[in-house]
Amino acid sequence: MFRKQFVDRRKELEFLDSKYKENGFEFVILSGRRRTGKSRLLKEFVKDKENIFLLCEERRWQYNLSKFKRLQWNSW
Ligand SMILES: Nc1ncnc2c1ncn2[C@@H]1O[C@H](COP(=O)(O)OP(=O)(O)O)[C@@H](O)[C@H]1O
Ligand SMILES: [Mg+2]
Repeated sequence: MFRKQFVDRRKELEFLDSKYKENGFEFVILSGRRRTGKSRLLKEFVKDKENIFLLCEERRWQYNLSKFKRLQWNSW
C-alpha cells in the first residue's frame, strides 16, 4: 500500500522553539499551500505546551467567537 513519506520538520520546529523562548511577544505567520503540513506542524509544536488552538474560519466573527467559547480547556 502507498504511504506518504514523513517530511522531517525539525528545522521548522527549531525555528518555532527559538521564537517561543524569546522574552518578548512574538507573532509568527505560517503560510503555504494547502495540505503542505501547516496544521500538523503547529499541533506538533504545541503538544507539550500550554496552548489555545483555535482554527478560525472565513465566516462571521460571531461564529469564530462561539468556536472559541466551545474550546476544551483541558490543559489549564
Ligand atoms: N511532516 C509530514 N510528513 C508527511 N505527511 C504530513 C506531514 N505533515 C502533514 N502531513 C500530512 O499531510 C496532510 C496535510 O497536512 P495538514 O497539516 O492538514 O496541511 P495544511 O494545514 O497545510 O493544509 C495530512 O494528511 C497530514 O497528515
Ligand atoms: Mg490546516
